[in-house]
Amino acid sequence: MQKPTIYITRKIPEHLLDPYRERFHFRMYHEERKPIPKDMLYEEVLEADGLLCLLTEQIDEPFLRHAKHLKIIANMAVGYDNIDVAAAEKYGIVVTNTPDVLTETTADLTFALLMATARRLVQSSNLIYQNGWKEWSPFDMVGTDVYGKTIGIVGMGRIGTAVARRAKGFDMDILYHNRSRNQEVEEVLGAEYCSFEELLERADFVVSLLPLTEKTAKKFNKEAFERMKETAIFINVSRGGVVDEDALYEALKEGKIKAAGLDVFAKEPIDSSHPFTKLDNVLLTPHIGSSTKETREKMLTLCLDNLDNYFYGDGALTPVTKNKK
Ligand code: DGY
Repeated sequence: MQKPTIYITRKIPEHLLDPYRERFHFRMYHEERKPIPKDMLYEEVLEADGLLCLLTEQIDEPFLRHAKHLKIIANMAVGYDNIDVAAAEKYGIVVTNTPDVLTETTADLTFALLMATARRLVQSSNLIYQNGWKEWSPFDMVGTDVYGKTIGIVGMGRIGTAVARRAKGFDMDILYHNRSRNQEVEEVLGAEYCSFEELLERADFVVSLLPLTEKTAKKFNKEAFERMKETAIFINVSRGGVVDEDALYEALKEGKIKAAGLDVFAKEPIDSSHPFTKLDNVLLTPHIGSSTKETREKMLTLCLDNLDNYFYGDGALTPVTKNKK
């Protein structure tokens, strides 16, 4: 069999490809920090049997129809809302994601964001850089306790479970809402299942780990923020699309909730012109949930293993389409 051609939509470390070079012919976009232009991707994909892409690529029906030789798409993310999976299935193209390998790393970032928002770490650090620390005072930069509070996790999958384990270590009460009950978090961590509305009303920290789907789009809307406590802190590390950002802005500005820590946004990237940057009760990070060297390398390796198993083994390891071959 001729070596399959794999197109990689971003420059990735060459050494990760070394173990696979005998079996694949790799072509790669040359930029590390810029997404591939659409017309270039359209041209390159015509020669490709497999595609390794990122969440910055919108893989829609017209693209899939155009990609005549394409058999598999390995998406370097656990979320795959950038891909029209139903259309891929229609054309017999397998789609894979990268579950498990990023779970703990993303849970770490979730908790880091929660703590940094509660304790105002960035504002406190900035105070020094701006020569604003004149004296120690009892109520300077006061934040909110984390330990012993109630966390409400919306979306109790792998990452939610890992966040719940961290919360347990901080002696927090754990509420969760999910499509289905999660026995593990209930039995091992004592988490309590409740409705979305009840969770919003009771939680001190509301954490979104929802995937973006038609059903979850803008789930955190005006009504949701109005249900939350005025002291509540909202954390989002899943997808910006699950939040009505105008409603969140208003809630933060009007003091309907206390603060937010956000790693993801409806339209990415954002810059200093974004309305959230004008608020002093928001902590913003640039979609870095899984961003450690170890985890990003593991994600890429899982993409490559998916391609390898598809072409030379029993089928993709972590397909999100019904078929894996
Ligand atoms: C994902 O995997 O879906 C993240 O958003 C990127 O790590």
